Amino acid sequence: MVYSKKNNHAQVKTWNWGIVAPGHIAQKFSIGLAENFQAKRYAVASRELQKAKDFAKKFGFAKAYGSYEELIHDPEVDIIYVASPNHMHFEHTIAALQAGKHVLCEKPFALNSHEVTIMTALAHRKNLFLMEALWTRFIPSYLKTVEWIKSGVIGEPKQLTANFGFVAKYDPQSRLFNPEFGGGSLADIGIYPAFLALTLFGYPEKILATSTIAPSGVDMSTEAICQHKDGVISKLICTFAENLETEALITGTKGSLRMHRSFHMPCALTLTRESGDVETIPANPNENGYQYEALEVMRCLDNGQKESDQWPLLKSAELLRFLEAIKASALEHAANART
Ligand SMILES: NC(=O)c1ccc[n+]([C@@H]2O[C@H](COP(=O)([O-])OP(=O)(O)OC[C@H]3O[C@@H](n4cnc5c(N)ncnc54)[C@H](OP(=O)(O)O)[C@@H]3O)[C@@H](O)[C@H]2O)c1
Repeated sequence: MVYSKKNNHAQVKTWNWGIVAPGHIAQKFSIGLAENFQAKRYAVASRELQKAKDFAKKFGFAKAYGSYEELIHDPEVDIIYVASPNHMHFEHTIAALQAGKHVLCEKPFALNSHEVTIMTALAHRKNLFLMEALWTRFIPSYLKTVEWIKSGVIGEPKQLTANFGFVAKYDPQSRLFNPEFGGGSLADIGIYPAFLALTLFGYPEKILATSTIAPSGVDMSTEAICQHKDGVISKLICTFAENLETEALITGTKGSLRMHRSFHMPCALTLTRESGDVETIPANPNENGYQYEALEVMRCLDNGQKESDQWPLLKSAELLRFLEAIKASALEHAANART
């Protein structure tokens, strides 16, 4: 970490970021990172040096490594963004923490909540920052949704319906369908409807779920109906087999609130009041959206926090437990259907 002057005013810290596994999401994240003046795009590591070099050139990183280990052990790296496939999040996060680095790790944080417990314990023991890259949590339109609901503008919330679906080409070796990669629609995209239900209404008291299974053994589609405190119901759908609206609708006693496509990074919010008045707030269509989670990491580090109070590690563990409970309910449903 170094200090630099911005606009000749107060000194601000800059943080050296390193990216592990420069795939699809790492590209988007790097564009977001470039919007944060505190973030220095320091290094990127791929299993192939040439790929790392090309990525570094395209996205403005100073250094390129041909192995993850080299980047993890570079003493100049402050924060590592882990963007590898799901089944590697645990291994890469643990390695980065062991090397004394702060970590932002892609969603789903790990393959199960037990892994999250181990990751959390190590971060605490090493006094290092750790957070799941659940970017929606920091998007202004999600924050506005929470604010509106808390203000009582739709009255008492009664129901949430949220779906996330697209047609994914079936490839049993791809990270979406390969069980060894932690694939499946629930882990990959169902996490967003589940995140919304969990953060708006708390951990559910009852869950009823069903899945359709792809030939590789992971879920192609999953639907869950959950009952939360005060009888609030959430209906959650995710699928790799259909192009869904990928919207969320929250209805209450005095109105409703729609998070438009794609609701995990909504392009607009529409509030319908009891009076029938309709108010739509558009979001910035050119916005990348990944800058906010990176900003949160650096805000916390600047404050000496080793965990985000906005998206704490216990919440990441709870979210994974929620996904595990949905999966267990779907398995139970399938077993009952067979008998
Ligand atoms: N937050 C979001 O909006 C969002 C969106 C999409 C995905 N994600 C998450 O981000 C993670 C990566 O997804 P992605 O779409 O970026 O995947 P991707 O394009 O396939 O990239 C993953 C990268 O991981 C590296 N890797 C290491 N071991 C690998 C292996 N055995 N097989 C394949 N790749 C391997 C590869 O980089 P090298 O070969 O260069 O080392 C590859 O480029 C996933 O956990 C996913 O859930 C998040």
